Amino acid sequence: MNAREIAAAFRQQFPEAAEPVVVRAPGRVNLIGEHTDYNDGFVLPMAIDAQILLAGSVRDDQQVQIYSLDFQEGTSFDLNDFSQSTTAPWSNYIRGVCAMFLETTPLKGMNIVLSGNVPQGAGLSSSAALEVGTALLIRTLNNLDTPAVELVKLAQRAENEFVGVACGIMDQFISMLGKKDHVLFLDCRSLEYDLVPAPFGANQASIVVIDSGVKRGLVDSEYNLRRSQCEAAVSELKKNLPEIKALRDVGVEHLDLINQLEPELQKRARHVVTENQRVLDAVKLLRDGQIQEFGQLMNESHASLRDDYQVSCPELDLLVEIAQSVPGVYGSRMTGAGFGGCTVTLAANDSIEQLKAAVLDQYPKQTQYTPRIYVFNASEGAEKLTF
Ligand code: GLA
Repeated sequence: MNAREIAAAFRQQFPEAAEPVVVRAPGRVNLIGEHTDYNDGFVLPMAIDAQILLAGSVRDDQQVQIYSLDFQEGTSFDLNDFSQSTTAPWSNYIRGVCAMFLETTPLKGMNIVLSGNVPQGAGLSSSAALEVGTALLIRTLNNLDTPAVELVKLAQRAENEFVGVACGIMDQFISMLGKKDHVLFLDCRSLEYDLVPAPFGANQASIVVIDSGVKRGLVDSEYNLRRSQCEAAVSELKKNLPEIKALRDVGVEHLDLINQLEPELQKRARHVVTENQRVLDAVKLLRDGQIQEFGQLMNESHASLRDDYQVSCPELDLLVEIAQSVPGVYGSRMTGAGFGGCTVTLAANDSIEQLKAAVLDQYPKQTQYTPRIYVFNASEGAEKLTF
C-alpha cells in the first residue's frame, strides 16, 4: 500500500472528512547492541523498508475515530476521557501517544486510517512504528513544533506508562530518525547519534532477517527481570566503583570485578559490558568496510545473549547455527528482546539463495515453525508523504 492508496481508503472510510495528511513510520532491525539501551549504552539499529502508514485529518470535536485496514476493525474514543482498550488492543499505542501529548498540549479530534506491513509480534518494532507514526501525525495535524527527539521520548513514554511495557528508547528512536542507506549509532544516555553509511551494497552484502515464528510478548516478565538484574549488578559494583550510574559506565577493564558478583548477576553484567564494547568496535569496522570482522562481532553478540544474558531460545539458536554454516555468511545473531522473534544475518549477496534454501530445508524439520525470510534495506525514518 502506498500514500495514494491509503488516502483513498481514508476517503472511503470517512467521506465527510477533510483531506488527509499521510505519514509513514518504519520498523527496525538492530544489527548489534542488544539489551544495552536501558543500561544507558550503545546500539546500532537500522530502519527497515517495512512500515506503518497513517492517514488522518482533524475533526471539529474531541472524538478520535480510528480504522485499521489490516484488522478491518474500527474503534473510537473521546480525548477528554479515555483509557486502555481491551477490545481493540492495537489502538492502545495510538491512545497512549494521545495521552502523553495531552499532559501538556490540547489536541484536536481526529479521523485516522492505518495499515502496515511490519510483521507483528516478530520483534521488528511494529508497535514503536505505530507510536512514532501517531506522534508525527498529531504534530502535523495540530501544527506543533515538537522536535523529533521529544516525539521519540513521548512515544517511548506511551509504551512505558500507557501500554505498560518497560522498553528502552532504541525502537522509537530509530523509527523516527533512521536514514536511507544508513545505520544509526546511538548513545542511549546522551541521545547523541551518528549515521553510519551501510556499505552493504558496496560490499555486495545484505541484511537478511529471519522470523523464527516463535511469538513471545515483551510484556513478559523476563524482560523486566533482566532490567532489575542489571540494576542489582550496578548496586553491587558501586561498592568498588562508586562513581558508576549504569552498566554503561563499567568497561571491559572491570571484568575482574564483574567476575566477583554472584553467578547470575555476573553473566548479565558481562553481557552488557562486552556488548557495549562490541558496538563501539563494530561501528569502527563498518566505517572501514571490514564487514567480515563486523560479522564476527555479530556471532559473538549472539553467543553472549545465549549464554550470559540467556534471552535466546532453541529456535533462534538453530536459525543462527544454520546461517553461520552457509559459506558467504559473515555473521548472524538474534535481534530484539529475544525468546522468539527474528535473527539478523549479514550475508554476501551471492550466498542469499543458499541461505534461504538451508533455512527452509532444515528449520521446519527440527522445529514446529515455518520460517519467514526477509531481505531489508536501510530506509528513511518517519516522514510525511506527498501523494
Ligand atoms: C526491545 C525493547 C528495546 C530493547 C530491545 C533489546 O526491542 O523495546 O528497547 O531493549 O528489546 O535490545
